[in-house]
Amino acid sequence: MTTTLALVTGANKGIGYATAQQLAARGATVLLGARDEARGREAERTLRAGGADARFVPLDVTDAESVAAAAKLVEREYGRLDVLVNNAGIVRADGTALPSETTLATLREVFDTNVFGVVTVTNALLPLLRRAPAGRIVNVSSEVGSIGVMTDPQGALFALTSVPYPASKTALNMVTAMYAKELRDTPIKVNAANPGYCATDFNHHSGFRTAEQGAEVSVHLATLPADGPSGLLWGYRMDNGGDHGVLPW
Ligand SMILES: NC(=O)c1ccc[n+]([C@@H]2O[C@H](COP(=O)([O-])OP(=O)(O)OC[C@H]3O[C@@H](n4cnc5c(N)ncnc54)[C@H](OP(=O)(O)O)[C@@H]3O)[C@@H](O)[C@H]2O)c1
Repeated sequence: MTTTLALVTGANKGIGYATAQQLAARGATVLLGARDEARGREAERTLRAGGADARFVPLDVTDAESVAAAAKLVEREYGRLDVLVNNAGIVRADGTALPSETTLATLREVFDTNVFGVVTVTNALLPLLRRAPAGRIVNVSSEVGSIGVMTDPQGALFALTSVPYPASKTALNMVTAMYAKELRDTPIKVNAANPGYCATDFNHHSGFRTAEQGAEVSVHLATLPADGPSGLLWGYRMDNGGDHGVLPW
């Protein structure tokens, strides 16, 4: 039996690091995509010290050359890819995060990583995912990208008004749905993950869930069986007592 080969972007810390750790614990060989060599090598060292089959791969999702080089490395050394977790993401807001204060520079910066980066990485690696017997693509999204959740006057997130990050995750949700449609007659499944609010550098560790709990959502979607779903936003549901399930778009 061949070992599952997984690539996680933004794997040097937070939810991406925990995802890599959990996939490795399930026996996968994990490629740790990270844009900074020192941070990537440090994650590689720590995971390997814990027994993981982990390898740092230089990967800045906003840099087409870096993405192409990573894809070339995977093709040359492994010839296929079983799992792609598009985890790298950033959050930015202007002023007090009102829509009327949003600048295009911030919007572009956030979309560059959270949306365009995902499309760049996915398109570069799709030929290798097609060579795998059961390819899985996980796009790490958020409940704040759900228009249903964000516009529910009774919902816990109704007070949030920021545009760049939520809109980027809404776009990512559509990206997910469209790839799932294109790939519906292949073994590849494409889903968006909602990790829930996890304590990481991303939010100055204010989240009420752990990075490990958030990573479990990505790992679930990365290891779906052949009859599992494709084209969903799935994960932590605040409105459901924290149970995991499908979220509205
Ligand atoms: N934490 C939450 O509550 C929460 C909730 C919902 C969704 N999410 C999503 O979960 C994902 C991971 O977030 P996190 O909480 O683990 O945040 P984090 O601790 O800040 O980690 C983000 C990771 O993305 C990497 N990254 C950023 N830009 C990159 C780029 N251009 N190329 C490659 N890597 C890049 C970072 O690398 P550097 O170390 O080099 O910056 C870091 O490894 C994100 O997509 C986020 O939107 C998080």
